[in-house]
Amino acid sequence: MAETTIRRLETLFNDEPDRLSRLSFDVAGIYFDFSKTHLDSNILTLGVRRSEKMGFASAREALFNGGVVNPSEGRPATHVAERGSGSPEDVDVAQARRLRMRALVDAIEAGAFGDITGILHIGIGGSVLGPALAVDALGRRRSGLNVRFLSNIDGAAFDDAVRTLDPATTLIVVASKTFTTLETMTNLDAARAWLSDAGVDDPDGRIIALTAKPEAAAERGVDDTRILVFGEGVGGRYSLWSAVGLTIALALGWDAFEEMLEGAAEMDRHFRFADPASNVPLIAAFADRFYVEEQGCQTRALFAYDERLRLLPFYLQQLEMESNGKSVTVNGDPVESTAPVTWGGTGTDAQHAVFQLLHQGTVLVPVEFVAVTEGDDAQDPEQHRLLLLNAFAQGAALMEGRTSDDPQRTYPGNRPSTSILLSVLDGRALGALIAFYEHRTFANAVLLGINPFDQFGVELGKDIARKLADDDGEATLDASTRALMERAGI
Ligand code: F6P
Repeated sequence: MAETTIRRLETLFNDEPDRLSRLSFDVAGIYFDFSKTHLDSNILTLGVRRSEKMGFASAREALFNGGVVNPSEGRPATHVAERGSGSPEDVDVAQARRLRMRALVDAIEAGAFGDITGILHIGIGGSVLGPALAVDALGRRRSGLNVRFLSNIDGAAFDDAVRTLDPATTLIVVASKTFTTLETMTNLDAARAWLSDAGVDDPDGRIIALTAKPEAAAERGVDDTRILVFGEGVGGRYSLWSAVGLTIALALGWDAFEEMLEGAAEMDRHFRFADPASNVPLIAAFADRFYVEEQGCQTRALFAYDERLRLLPFYLQQLEMESNGKSVTVNGDPVESTAPVTWGGTGTDAQHAVFQLLHQGTVLVPVEFVAVTEGDDAQDPEQHRLLLLNAFAQGAALMEGRTSDDPQRTYPGNRPSTSILLSVLDGRALGALIAFYEHRTFANAVLLGINPFDQFGVELGKDIARKLADDDGEATLDASTRALMERAGI
């Protein structure tokens, strides 16, 4: 299982009476407990030394000061400025753009687009996962609008998305940084057709574009007054804080959106100013590196013990794997390891599906539990108590294991988990939680010397699909792919 032998977690607890207090932290209203991981003073010291060697402090300053932290594209990463934590110039630009966004939200709420009952948010990857997570997490009992998210190019996804929407009263919000993405442009055309087939007078007047390329949106027929711009420095998977958050603001209200920004800004301050020994995103990155590099863990799993956070694993998959799933450093030198595969689900469902392998399988998977002390459902509070209790029981079981004379009934234990406990799930807490994951991803990238802000890995497949769609390049295709196309009759 493990590449090298590791000490048992119970031994670490026995040997270090202050282990829990040293490895648990309260930041931005969130409790982080790393004590059930194998982090010890040695790993932490080595991590801090490595961060110094890799220039962590200056890389972090560059992130917050608008330095070029995305060298392959020659850009800063300005998502922190969207929540007021970047350089003064970047923050000013973001705030000016936010005023326009606010004015548009006010106008929509005041009826400038007529009576609106639904929103169809079209986008893919970073242009949809953040808003979908936020609206799903915070909007269950709050949004008066029927908000649907559409990303896949599959027409069946379109049919599903519009099934409960009324074209006469639906607003189309199209989020695309480039405004060229095949899926999003195809779905935009389909939405326009859907509106006009339903007899909507001015379908274009119902479309709002959120983009870094306003000229491309204008070319697609979106009027300037309905285009909200965000900066090139805002990466897709970091974009929910920008104009891409329009759907969040419409669905949950402006105040809830601002609360998210404030929560994220609080986590920014922690990440920027806390010492390495108590810097939660950095400590999480030390653990990530330890399990990948020292224990050969190729995956990490996250289980949200709260239905409201059921989209969190999907959101994190893009954030972590698109940011850090790379094999070369910023200088083009090979790295031995980068991001593990991020996967997960919700508890308690996952206990009855994948936890068997986590407890008794031959691969070591560091697990993360995310739970919320206060529930927000209409059922007997006992249900929420049972939910939390299950999350905590799983962490204890993974760590302790159980011996038995019967090998089938033996649980090896010593399996690590991190617990993240929110007091309540509101905009502030969700903002802080997402910012924690962003900074953990950044910290991992710095420790590895890679650029987390580009994503060239997704280009090749797009390029080949484009060539095939243009009837170009079929001749150079391999025999297997040609045969698949023949079989499918395309
Ligand atoms: O999958 C590649 C990618 O470029 C993501 O990084 C991005 O979030 C998504 O596609 C959507 O791109 P856009 O916002 O330009 O439509």
